[in-house]
Amino acid sequence: MTESSSESALKALTDWWGEMGVDADPAAMKAYLSVAATGPSAPAAPALPQGQTPAPRPTRAATDWVAMASSAAAACNSLAELSAAIAAYDGSPLKAGCQNTVVFDGLEGAPVMVIGEGPGAEEDRQGKPFVGRAGQLLDRMLGAIGLSRQSNALITNVNYWRPPQNRNPEPGELAVCRPFVDRMVELTAPKLIIAAGGVPAKALLDTSTGIMRLRGTEKVLKLRGGRQVPVFPIMHPAFLLRRPQEKSRAWRDLQMIEQRAKALGVNLGG
Ligand code: URA
Repeated sequence: MTESSSESALKALTDWWGEMGVDADPAAMKAYLSVAATGPSAPAAPALPQGQTPAPRPTRAATDWVAMASSAAAACNSLAELSAAIAAYDGSPLKAGCQNTVVFDGLEGAPVMVIGEGPGAEEDRQGKPFVGRAGQLLDRMLGAIGLSRQSNALITNVNYWRPPQNRNPEPGELAVCRPFVDRMVELTAPKLIIAAGGVPAKALLDTSTGIMRLRGTEKVLKLRGGRQVPVFPIMHPAFLLRRPQEKSRAWRDLQMIEQRAKALGVNLGG
């Protein structure tokens, strides 16, 4: 592990513990990382045909990339157009290392939109969000309150390209996706949004409050033109796989969402 990648890994780890309300000792974390660095390395980016290197994205100021995303998103009038615009967009530095752009799965125009953090290895391979182990748990969680990709839910992310070693997406990587995320909400007009995990909850709500404080509450996403959509932050299913003791709190959060969904006129058929 290089010095800078170990520093960003250290930051990711301490941020993660911080979100859980634990103050991590930086010296202990560094020691942990030096051991972790000797373990198996993460899979390399997909091999390109011999002699080819990934096309570098054209050099532009970060603000230009966000402006380009905004105008590309605004020009789309359907989910199909938006998906094509996202796939054609070269403003994320993550894109060159990915096999696929992962946009959405589920029912177009569904009353419930679930927004996660971004694709992992399996999602990058299949080009669909939440299809790995965490995705299977997410499907079971949704199913418990009558939601499914087939009937009434659309699943997407705040970032469309897998970050290396599954690290959290960085602010600039989220910023270039944001206009597309907002346009998807405008075009599909969900009655409510479930933010799965701290990264999407903080990004959508533009807050630094951690997920353990946001979960169990109802917030609001404010869109251009004054439209507002209720947002329900929940713990990320990957976190629940690591901390099954949190599942009872996750269940309470889902029951609250079920009640609010019914009140908002969502048909919870399964
Ligand atoms: N985790 C996410 O947040 N999104 C996915 O699509 C997969 C795993």
